[in-house]
Amino acid sequence: MDIVKVNTQQLTYDILIGDGVLEFGLEKLSDLLGKNKICCVTDENVAPLYLEGFLTALKKAGVETVAPIIIPAGEKSKNFEILQSVISKSLGIGLNRKTALVALGGGVVGDITGFAASVIMRGIPFIQIPTTLLAQVDSSVGGKTGINTAQGKNLVGSFYQPSLVLIDTQTLKTLPVREMKAGYAEILKYALINDPSFFDWLEDKGSGVLEGVVDLQKLAIRKSCQSKADIVAADEREEKDIRALLNLGHTFGHALEVIGGYDGRLLHGEAVAIGCKLAFDFSVDMGICPKEDALRLTSHLEKAGMMMRAPFDVDVDDMVKRMQGDKKNTEDGMTLILARGIGRAFVQKSVDVALVRTFLQKWIG
Ligand SMILES: NC(=O)c1ccc[n+]([C@@H]2O[C@H](COP(=O)([O-])OP(=O)(O)OC[C@H]3O[C@@H](n4cnc5c(N)ncnc54)[C@H](O)[C@@H]3O)[C@@H](O)[C@H]2O)c1
Ligand SMILES: [Zn+2]
Repeated sequence: MDIVKVNTQQLTYDILIGDGVLEFGLEKLSDLLGKNKICCVTDENVAPLYLEGFLTALKKAGVETVAPIIIPAGEKSKNFEILQSVISKSLGIGLNRKTALVALGGGVVGDITGFAASVIMRGIPFIQIPTTLLAQVDSSVGGKTGINTAQGKNLVGSFYQPSLVLIDTQTLKTLPVREMKAGYAEILKYALINDPSFFDWLEDKGSGVLEGVVDLQKLAIRKSCQSKADIVAADEREEKDIRALLNLGHTFGHALEVIGGYDGRLLHGEAVAIGCKLAFDFSVDMGICPKEDALRLTSHLEKAGMMMRAPFDVDVDDMVKRMQGDKKNTEDGMTLILARGIGRAFVQKSVDVALVRTFLQKWIG
């Protein structure tokens, strides 16, 4: 089993990564909980696959559980209504301040459960058991929780760290290829931010990660979690222009997700892949990134079979308006994560919106 440590101001916790951790690796969880119970939150796709096995393994490990909470699957669930239902169900089953909420599922389950845990009784213990590649390499680590609103993605939420992250690579065996690719976009993001040799590795081994070669998956997950842990330790609350780098591809990507209406045509990771390409192409247009680097990224995305364009019409003014609604923006204008090359991302403030509009007009064609 691999272990990555995350040091934050709130707490220090372990990410355990292994094949079969959910069945055989629950010691750490039972140590952490002592006699306290857990309430498992999952979605209706993950429940039939993993809930029963997990509850049985918990029983064997001596961990007591209360009735699980199952929410509808998909991005559309990241809203006030579902958040409220998770909170009232949790309170309804009589949990106390030490009962842990466990998120068993993808980033949607993780983001809602973490948010609920942060506000129930002003904060109860929270554990992440991510079952999508995206959640294993990104959303389960670092403590950002939240929901979407009509105005945009993740505009309501909290910083709330989990006490433990358990990553079982076996759960990836049931993950649809499209979801694997969505997760791969976030792995690629770490390489593009500050790790050019990881990009070389992905050019060589990325197809193995996507095809389910367990050792390669474990390595890519460990490397991604370590990158995220380093960035989060350096700038937990996104105050120093370090954590914001994790938003590479996300300002473009989130705008596309909002335009798509979270209806499943464009997954978060797909939007991130398109967004990374746009960030690199825009950086080339700005004269700050060598064209070869952007071409290298495009050809890797194509080879990996990633979605390259939004599967719906995009109006440039609408897209710019959505990008202007991003959390990173200040009174001085748009903030974008741009790149001087592969592995050389940086935060660019006060970007001229007219240049973004012209670039997008060219992209949409
Ligand atoms: N908090 C953060 O730091 C952070 C970081 C990145 C992304 N996110 C958020 O994460 C969300 C995306 O997460 P996601 O891609 O995991 O989406 P998701 O939670 O919707 O999961 C994708 C789909 O896979 C299903 N699924 C989950 N595990 C499965 C398995 N093992 N086998 C078969 N099916 C399975 C789910 O039911 C769902 O239908 C977005 O809302 C995004 O904003 C948050
Ligand atoms: Zn993301």
